[in-house]
Amino acid sequence: METHKQLGIGLFGFGVVGEGLYKVLQQTPSLSARLKKVCIRNPEKQRNAPAELFTTDRSVLLNDPEINVIVEVIDDANAAFAIITEALKNGKDVVSASKKMIAEHLDELLALQQQTGRSLLYEAAACASIPVIRNLEEYYDNDLLHSIRAIVNGSTNFILTKMFEEGLDFRQALLLAQQLGFAESNPSLDVEGYDAVNKWTFLLTHAYGITASPENILFNGIQNIHAGDAAVALARHQQIKLVAQAQKLQNGQVAAFVLPQFVKQDDHLSFVKNEYNGVVIESGFADKQFFYGKGAGSLPTASAVLSDIAALRYQYKYEYKKLYHHQPHTLSEEVYLRVYVSFEDWKYIPREKFEWIEEWHAQEERKYLVGVIGFRELKDQTWWKDNNTSLILAPDPVIETVEIRKLKKKSLELAGLAL
Ligand code: HSE
Repeated sequence: METHKQLGIGLFGFGVVGEGLYKVLQQTPSLSARLKKVCIRNPEKQRNAPAELFTTDRSVLLNDPEINVIVEVIDDANAAFAIITEALKNGKDVVSASKKMIAEHLDELLALQQQTGRSLLYEAAACASIPVIRNLEEYYDNDLLHSIRAIVNGSTNFILTKMFEEGLDFRQALLLAQQLGFAESNPSLDVEGYDAVNKWTFLLTHAYGITASPENILFNGIQNIHAGDAAVALARHQQIKLVAQAQKLQNGQVAAFVLPQFVKQDDHLSFVKNEYNGVVIESGFADKQFFYGKGAGSLPTASAVLSDIAALRYQYKYEYKKLYHHQPHTLSEEVYLRVYVSFEDWKYIPREKFEWIEEWHAQEERKYLVGVIGFRELKDQTWWKDNNTSLILAPDPVIETVEIRKLKKKSLELAGLAL
């Protein structure tokens, strides 16, 4: 008796990931998946595969009855969405790595999966080689997942490592990330945090059943981090990482954001260097778990695509358990954050918006403070990224509303003692 489905694959895109997948499929004959056609945009480009494999006509793939799996690894989010929509409607299963497209069209993609009954898998779209989506989806019961903290963008982690540990300047580090195939074709998507927040939106869906669009999540990238900030980190034996965080609050809601953060030496994320990604999960009884692996690059990303293709042999689908089978969580803005802010002039800093300021220092060219501020004060404002200002979260940055009064009283008492 045949135990699994025979797969005929139509591949869209033959860039870093597409070519990686081609190589990986050739080295995995046991999968018995046949790559039938590859659709590309530019037929002139030299490619390391037989010419008859390629076409520029997408309908050749989308209308071939022998192709039952469409793998989409292209760069253009709008074209990717159109391809996936048509593929699902034509009764094909889909594997995608297009994080921007998934983040921007999540609601429509959820509806399409329900309407068509087909499977859409996208493990490669977040943390590349780390099987984070399937684990969040299958392993963690809703109520047990206390928090997730993660490095989800390989390029920014690579740049921070090269700059602050190997002395490269920003341009050199970014160029290297581009040459190694880690960066997006528009690298500001990486550097300014868009890629990380895109990934965070659908990881929140699989973790907590939250369906938020990227613009509803507080985020920034690494573009404002200053050499002086790295010196402060060094003096404190800490590192600066771009951290995506989601934390369940006492009221049952979830606080989520993607921001640079000071990371202590004993934090698992401090171990994550270069293009690696890492995910620290805190759950009810297991305490902390740490997932670690390459988060960008040709073969690591292709490995996740391959795993999704293999899962389709057994008709695997995401059930979106936290969304459909549990009470989905909602995002909360009712929290406070402990932040470090470095800046050129006090005039750019709305001091009155802080609950309290714990430290302030003036160096020759730059000043910095550490204080506590309401999440909303950051969400609704841009002063903290304008005028060459840099905001980095302190370690353990989230303070719940129920805690704030107690802490405020204590900090005022301490300030009184100091006078
Ligand atoms: N540009 C992305 C990154 C590629 O650096 O993480 C992997 O999604």
